[in-house]
Amino acid sequence: MNARDLISIADLSAGDIEEILALAAKLKSDRKAGRDHPLLRGKSLAMIFEKPSLRTRVTFEVGMQQLGGHAVYLAPGDIRMGERESVADVARNLERWVDGIMARTFAHNTVAGLAEYATIPVINGLSDLEHPCQALADFLTIREHKGELQGLKMTFVGDGNNVAHSLVLLAAKVGVDFTLACPEGFEADAGVWELAGRLAADSGASLEVVADPAEGVRNADVVYTDVWVSMGQEEETAKRMEVFRSFQVDSRLLGNAKRDAIVLHCLPAHRGLEIADEVIDGRQSVVLDEAENRLHAQKAALTLLMAG
Ligand code: CP
Ligand code: NVA
Repeated sequence: MNARDLISIADLSAGDIEEILALAAKLKSDRKAGRDHPLLRGKSLAMIFEKPSLRTRVTFEVGMQQLGGHAVYLAPGDIRMGERESVADVARNLERWVDGIMARTFAHNTVAGLAEYATIPVINGLSDLEHPCQALADFLTIREHKGELQGLKMTFVGDGNNVAHSLVLLAAKVGVDFTLACPEGFEADAGVWELAGRLAADSGASLEVVADPAEGVRNADVVYTDVWVSMGQEEETAKRMEVFRSFQVDSRLLGNAKRDAIVLHCLPAHRGLEIADEVIDGRQSVVLDEAENRLHAQKAALTLLMAG
């Protein structure tokens, strides 16, 4: 793999993405057949969390253990990067002890700064701008259910947030058409969208933004949603509840997608808000495959970044 860190999907070439997805599929099927590979024997990963987590923490910790390595959990408040110690000093200390860093941060600059100052690989476990590990697990899931990725239509319903950013970049890289259905004022970050546009021009993917969720979901192969209030936006809760009310993915909305469309959600889900029970628990939902695939996709990324 060419990339040295995984801070943004933009760090990965199409070849890197293919390598991660292929290794993830192999590690997954081997594990199900009872075969684990100690590809990171004796290696350690520091996991820095400025925000809470279920999936990211468990899958990185278990993933390192399945690869023969070890993970050290640093809870929100343990380090207080930028307050107790600078990001650069944290990076320069950690690299003396461990072989890789995974960080979940508020500011994207914090995780990007770790990568800048540390000579060991740094993985973004979610920042305010991106969630690249999630997008890789999602595309592994889509490939398992749909086969070939190129030419599929994915519609993200809701907030143009960190998860949407990593998804649009990955879709644009691999040739998946991407529609963002969001209320006015909640579009994706302009810089990310522009970059995705340039990537899409190369892959042949089309990108669009619509304000009507029913129109956005029409003919979609993949319908994706995420929370209306991301971690760190709690003060905007009342306003967001109002603005996003008509953006719930329920069975009526899903009826506009292809009959065999699959439904994804990065989780945690707020049932009855961005997604209805009948959809998240319904036959088209693959959210638990998606959660499982965090483990396999990250084991592949960890191996390609840290082995050797
Ligand atoms: N999807 C995801 O990253 O979940 P956690 O916030 O629980 O890690
Ligand atoms: N957009 C959500 C994703 C959680 C996994 C957040 O940032 O809180």
